[in-house]
Amino acid sequence: MTDKLTPPTKKPNNPHFSSGPCAKRPGWTVDALANACVGRSHRSPAGRAKLAEVIDRSQQILGVPQDYRLGIVPASDTGAVEMAMWSLLGKLPLDILAWESFGQEWVQDVVEELKLQNTRVLQADYGGLPDLSTVNFDHDVVFLWNGTTSGVRVPNGDWIPEQRGGLTICDATSAVFAMDIPWSKLDVVTYSWQKVLGGEAQHGVIVLSPRAVERLETYTPERPIPKIFRLTKKGKLIEGIFKGDTINTPSMLCVEDALDSLNWAESIGGLTGLINRSEANLSVISKWVETSDWADFLAETPQTRSCTSICLKIIDPWFQSLAPEKQAEYAKKLSSLLEKQQVAFDIASYRSAPPGLRIWGGATVETSDIEALLPWLDWGYATVKSEYTSAVLASS
Ligand SMILES: Cc1ncc(COP(=O)(O)O)c(C=O)c1O
Repeated sequence: MTDKLTPPTKKPNNPHFSSGPCAKRPGWTVDALANACVGRSHRSPAGRAKLAEVIDRSQQILGVPQDYRLGIVPASDTGAVEMAMWSLLGKLPLDILAWESFGQEWVQDVVEELKLQNTRVLQADYGGLPDLSTVNFDHDVVFLWNGTTSGVRVPNGDWIPEQRGGLTICDATSAVFAMDIPWSKLDVVTYSWQKVLGGEAQHGVIVLSPRAVERLETYTPERPIPKIFRLTKKGKLIEGIFKGDTINTPSMLCVEDALDSLNWAESIGGLTGLINRSEANLSVISKWVETSDWADFLAETPQTRSCTSICLKIIDPWFQSLAPEKQAEYAKKLSSLLEKQQVAFDIASYRSAPPGLRIWGGATVETSDIEALLPWLDWGYATVKSEYTSAVLASS
């Protein structure tokens, strides 16, 4: 292990590996916001044009079907998910899936806040997925495409039938722009700009299928719907939301930034380019994991390993022999050490996930930066372990 204690010479050019807000696109500076429509109404022709452009270009880059609607909504991905659940759920029984903390948050909404009857919660521990073959698509179904805090994604959309009785509502915030989304299998998809696009927070996007619109126009839940969640008026979809008439006032700086990220996305080959960059990041980490004697993917099966939120657990028997609180402490020391060295910011695993590391591999992260990071992980781990061993020796 001794040679591993010598710090590598090369650092990543950009140490930003946070899982949200994620790294800005390569080359980004605040100058990208120079043309923002600030200091005037977002409902002015110029403001509306910017909002409509984000909608149209997002739809185009993502390949969202023409008969689906894409709108910008308040409160980031959380706002978009909750708006969908509050507006749509209750007509049919519900199957809700959870295999990490964000899925659990939506379960809590459904069980404790909406108090929906006839709900089945299909769960799995960190690293796994619930049994997808048991989902009943005559029910409404709520699930994540990618579990950001466990690094487990659904492998594809093959388990979702084209013809279904219920609606499929998918929180895809850490998947959209980095993974193939089979739109025809999904009735509601939500995401925010702060993830794969490296955009700014607080603005969410909701995508609705014709079936979701039909539900909105034919079903009125027996619960109050705050204005901030309201998608219909007098039983009709508020079409303006999907043309850029946002429910409340958006930040036009964030809108400009979203346009900048879409320009960049187009410049690197659109969706295919984005997906390829993210998959390349996963692939570099996979090769490193294969030879690592201390780290492994938290995701149990290769087909479910996320290419965006890449979560690693520590399998070294020394680490495994530590008490859980010590494991958490040492994993934290590792991420703090890497942060102090300015090689990786914000890569501690999520607070409720098993102790380890979470490295964002979305499209805005350069593969060369991941490559430069990996030797630092080995160095950091060896350093933390040796500190522990020295402390034990000193105290004996
Ligand atoms: C799967 C998932 N859902 C929801 C959220 C919350 O997103 P936001 O803060 O954009 O509302 C996150 C954030 O990381 C997430 O990963």
